[in-house]
Amino acid sequence: MIDFSKFTKYSKPGPRYTSYPTAPEFHENFTENDLVEFYKNQADDRPLSLYIHLPFCRSACYFCGCNVIFTSKEDKKVRYIEYLKKELAILKQHLNTNRVVSQMHFGGGTPTFFSPEQLNEVILEIKKVFPNFEPDAEISCEVDPRFFTQEHMDVLKNGGCNRLSFGVQDLDEKVQETIHRVQPFETTQSVVKIARDAGIDSINIDLIYGLPYQTKQSFTKTIEKIITLDPDRLAVFNYAHVPWMMKTQRKFDETTFAPPSTKLEILQDTIKFFTDNSYKMVGMDHFAKPTDELFQAIEKGELHRNFQGYTTKGGADLIGIGVTSIGNGVDYYVQNLKDLNSYEKAIDSGHLPVFKGYSLSDDDILRQYVIMELMSNFSLDIKRVEEKFNINFKEYFDDALKALKEFEDAEVLTIEESKIQANETGAMLIRNIAMPFDAYLNNIPEDKRRFSKTI
Ligand SMILES: C[S@@+](CC[C@H](N)C(=O)[O-])C[C@H]1O[C@@H](n2cnc3c(N)ncnc32)[C@H](O)[C@@H]1O
Ligand code: SF4
Repeated sequence: MIDFSKFTKYSKPGPRYTSYPTAPEFHENFTENDLVEFYKNQADDRPLSLYIHLPFCRSACYFCGCNVIFTSKEDKKVRYIEYLKKELAILKQHLNTNRVVSQMHFGGGTPTFFSPEQLNEVILEIKKVFPNFEPDAEISCEVDPRFFTQEHMDVLKNGGCNRLSFGVQDLDEKVQETIHRVQPFETTQSVVKIARDAGIDSINIDLIYGLPYQTKQSFTKTIEKIITLDPDRLAVFNYAHVPWMMKTQRKFDETTFAPPSTKLEILQDTIKFFTDNSYKMVGMDHFAKPTDELFQAIEKGELHRNFQGYTTKGGADLIGIGVTSIGNGVDYYVQNLKDLNSYEKAIDSGHLPVFKGYSLSDDDILRQYVIMELMSNFSLDIKRVEEKFNINFKEYFDDALKALKEFEDAEVLTIEESKIQANETGAMLIRNIAMPFDAYLNNIPEDKRRFSKTI
């Protein structure tokens, strides 16, 4: 067992790099006009990846860091669908929606908190506006097992859905009660069966480590039980504790969290457990079976990172639809308005509901490449970066290389003439290893960084 106590100094606020630049850099000077200009300049042969945000949940899971609206009112959902349709109609005026769609993802909130009929209505409308889905498009949906029926499965399957992701988080009773998400194992088991019987190719399960009252022993029990469901993929997220942003997280007694060294041990146990059971670690928080595309993407060096985590489909322009959703092209990010009222108001006046965004400079695009390579593959081909961006890596990243020296000294990273490579322990610290390449982070004093802790 590695002595993790020497690494706990790296437990500091840092981005998860689902984007670079990170969301705090997005600003409101980026307007609808900017976005429309980017849409105009996009090549028609670049595929589209659609993200549809369905924000509602019935009740709060206290750990949740997602953009969620809690409601029990049916009319809110009906109204939201009307606005999604209007947003799609406005989008069609500015974007070539005849482009091929290679990917579509329903996220939330809890997409399946909508009724099967409502989900069907959304899917049909999207397919009307975007008629050219690739025959093997990846269509996925996030599912809270507590809100999922055979009828939901039928509608999703008919809509071409081939991937489902089930939120579980933890199976321990005390943990479940504390996080306000009581979900018996049998509930998860029965929805996984529904998905398997429907012939879903890829089933993912989300777990979180670092939650209140979790211990090494309790989390081991969770993973031993979860593997009996034989998921194709698992996401094992590090709990992002951001109580200044998420009010419900303030309900937790922070003394019940495992300390960073224990969290690293839990992560190490988890990696060992899944790799011993023939899963492969993908990026910093995913595991996949060797038969899964995600695993094969690593072998081919084609793993990409985006807002949903890791994906095999690079080279597509992401279009975010719905309140708070994020879109992304080669040289921009855009985020929709975050509260329902202003979202509806923008749409009522015929505008795309743009809240803020970011136009990437050449330097941003270069750093984005470097950071995403490290986050996905735990390594960086220096020669490839030099050729692709026509730079001298050592000169360009002199400061970053100096900052990485301490990781080299700690023997978690090797820096050679043509390659940077993190070892297994380095992989657990990959957010810290990527941070020196972030041009914006260094302008924020450490005590002012509003990110979750890296460990
Ligand atoms: C939108 S939710 C999933 C769908 C569904 N609402 C559910 O809960 O099952 C996406 C996933 O984000 C993860 N998540 C949410 N809040 C988190 C946090 N604070 N830290 C780490 N992961 C988090 C959870 O694993 C969750 O399953
Ligand atoms: S974890 Fe899922 S169900 Fe729970 S509040 Fe967040 S989005 Fe809703």
